[in-house]
Amino acid sequence: MLKTIRASHHGADLFDWDELIQEDRVHRLIYTDPAIFEMELTNIWGAVWVYLGHESQIPGPDDFITTRLGLRPIILIRDAAGTIRALFNRCTHRGTTLCRKERGNAHMFTCPYHGWSYLSTGKLRAVPWPDGYACDFKDAKFNLAQVPRVDSYRGFVFGTLNPDAPPLRTYLGGITAPIDEWLDRNPGGKVEVCEANRLKFKGNWKLAYDNSGDGYHVVFSHRSLLEMENRLADEANKGMSYYRGSPDSKPMYMRYTGNGHHFKDKRPNIEKRAGGLWSVEGPAPGGEHAEASLRGRFGERADDILDLASSEPVNINVFPNLSLLGNHIQVFEPVSVAETNVTWYGTRVVDADGTLGAAVDEINALRMRTQEQFPNFGEVDDLANFEEIQRGLACLEDEWVYMHRGLGIPGRVKSGPDGEVTAPATDEAFMREYIKEWKRLMQASPRLVVKREP
Ligand code: FES
Ligand SMILES: [Fe+2]
Repeated sequence: MLKTIRASHHGADLFDWDELIQEDRVHRLIYTDPAIFEMELTNIWGAVWVYLGHESQIPGPDDFITTRLGLRPIILIRDAAGTIRALFNRCTHRGTTLCRKERGNAHMFTCPYHGWSYLSTGKLRAVPWPDGYACDFKDAKFNLAQVPRVDSYRGFVFGTLNPDAPPLRTYLGGITAPIDEWLDRNPGGKVEVCEANRLKFKGNWKLAYDNSGDGYHVVFSHRSLLEMENRLADEANKGMSYYRGSPDSKPMYMRYTGNGHHFKDKRPNIEKRAGGLWSVEGPAPGGEHAEASLRGRFGERADDILDLASSEPVNINVFPNLSLLGNHIQVFEPVSVAETNVTWYGTRVVDADGTLGAAVDEINALRMRTQEQFPNFGEVDDLANFEEIQRGLACLEDEWVYMHRGLGIPGRVKSGPDGEVTAPATDEAFMREYIKEWKRLMQASPRLVVKREP
């Protein structure tokens, strides 16, 4: 059953969007205004496909995780028949959240408040002391609301409340190519999600998305990490060192692929040889020992194995909340206009066809060590920047944030078919492109719906 929950929208004309979003700059209000944040919950977080979780987090029947769609609490569950559903985590009686666990397995949920219980399909199962009610509990309105469209792309599960959104595959468009490459570099083409580093910052969620492809800040903001790597290893070889000197003269690049998605590709900088990727991996405590033992055991195969354990030098950003970078899955989650959660999930390689054999555990152990690197030593630099931007934006009279690097230089930014835009690695072209898409979405009047079991 589909039911319209928001027939009309009055927010779209509250702001002069052409004034707020200009070719070279955006107004501070887009990061600070609670009314704009409130609108985003409908026009962005309700209207486009939003990443909800990974299939490997709910592998079996009745496995669930709790997650969010914007601020809406969600139970992402694989029901007993195997269908993945995104149930609103909200009891239909008086509205409390039904499930307060991060994950688990449940064929039904019993509300902690008055004991109404629901099946994993979202259907109301029973109500305590029903004699006290005159209503018919078979009415669908008592079943849990759920996200009407849930779909996966190669294990990544997305949902939208917008019946007019394009199919997921169309929405993802050109960003599926780097996602495929990110997965297919592993024999079997699959990863599983592991535990996470959970971080948060006092700033607007878009500050994190603005930064997700920013190659301009690296050597300045992450100087301490670069210096540490330089102390431990040959500085000329390390991936982050690519941004020293004249980064734009190197073959790495950024590309905007439409619908707010973009990626930064450092792979062209890597030597094309077995072990080439491992040679740019940052040194980790204990890494040399693991490498030596692996070389001893696997001989000539060791270089390929070490490459699979290394961080893939890409940042793939799927608007509005998913980022694949290195070996990690990063998820952005708005909390309020000036508060955001940032979660970095580790991933392990799945040896689906037995190609890796005994090496798979070694690869995954080394991949876990990469979780200790950038998410611990680099992400904190970025979060500090986001918080300090939010503080800076409190200067009411200094209104503009510039994102015009690369703009107006003949031949620098190249447009391809399907609205693709390619530019040097330090350009802000992807920011200008995604924020145009954000503006288009904020000017729209999406019709959002929920579904309930009949
Ligand atoms: S609020 Fe859930 S049973 Fe009352
Ligand atoms: Fe950074």
